[in-house]
Amino acid sequence: MITRIIGTGSSLPSNLVTNDDLSKIMDTSDEWISSRTGIKERRLAKEETTASMAAEASRKALENAGISAEEIDLIIVGTITGDYVTPSTSCEIQAKLGAVNAVAFDVNAACSGFMFALHTAHIYLQSGIYKTALIIGAETLSKIMDWNDRSTCVLFGDGAGAAIVRAYAQARNEKGGLLAFEQGSDGAKGKVLACRDRVNNNPLIQNPLEPGYVSMDGQEVYKFAVGTVPASIIKVLEMSELKTEDIKYFVLHQANIRIIQSVAKRLKVSEEKFPLSLDHCGNISAASVPILLDEMNRKGMLKAGDKIVMSGFGAGLTWGTAVIEW
Ligand code: ACO
Repeated sequence: MITRIIGTGSSLPSNLVTNDDLSKIMDTSDEWISSRTGIKERRLAKEETTASMAAEASRKALENAGISAEEIDLIIVGTITGDYVTPSTSCEIQAKLGAVNAVAFDVNAACSGFMFALHTAHIYLQSGIYKTALIIGAETLSKIMDWNDRSTCVLFGDGAGAAIVRAYAQARNEKGGLLAFEQGSDGAKGKVLACRDRVNNNPLIQNPLEPGYVSMDGQEVYKFAVGTVPASIIKVLEMSELKTEDIKYFVLHQANIRIIQSVAKRLKVSEEKFPLSLDHCGNISAASVPILLDEMNRKGMLKAGDKIVMSGFGAGLTWGTAVIEW
């Protein structure tokens, strides 16, 4: 079986917030944010929710693939900011799309969420259990930010990206689609990027916890990313017997321009092969990779036969990388 991405879609909230807008409500500046991160603006949800953005991205992906919602066998959403603890965002999407034949569940792997969803779908498709999957990364990160902590809240945005993946019978010696993947976790370092759960107001508890917001040791996250991501990319290239020269684009999680520049340098690859969306989206965790992929697809940057590396990395700590032939 070959697992191919056959359609993409994305959705951003309408509310545009520039670095200058943020500097009016907190002690920060466009110079500080853009020089350290590459971020100029982001979209922050007002009316939109994680599920509404995920559904819009999914409808666009279905249209792009030219298939109907009834053809979807499996829906996996990567998110840490669902609208409900239960039902899962993926079950909400199933209902919104009328994907009545699908089984639906979420994965919690933060910025690696879309990659983990892709890899999980791939295994189901390879096994022959399912033929068509809808995978999504969707986040409303603005609701878990501490808006009094300028060192984190300026970094993130809201949005959703989706892809349709489908299994195709493989002719003899035929290659294509998802060629190799690898993923990993390092739970021992989990607290360098964390967000605790909501308040427990059980009256039998003496000291209820404070509400949870995102906290981050930025320098530790930086060290993790620039060490792990190049190693993970090299691993998938070896697994697929490819070299960096064979890769048209490296589609990385959009955390920070400095991380992306450092990965490019360590791999000895031109930064031109690393497309960006962080300048206008900020960091949207699980949604970063599929939004960027959709932007590239709609600009006509992806041609049949192109080999593309995709890599997500973040809280957990977690990471996941795949090489695909478009
Ligand atoms: N505006 C102005 N000043 C600020 C801001 C802000 N928004 N935030 C922090 N500062 C100040 C700090 O208070 C500090 O001031 P001080 O020197 O007077 O104490 C100064 O800027 C430097 O703060 P640092 O935290 O040391 O800033 P640093 O240069 O390390 O940059 C950054 C922070 C950009 C987050 C950096 O650590 C980094 O690139 N980390 C990588 C991790 C990352 O990108 N995380 C994103 C999410 S994680 C993920 O998606 C995988």
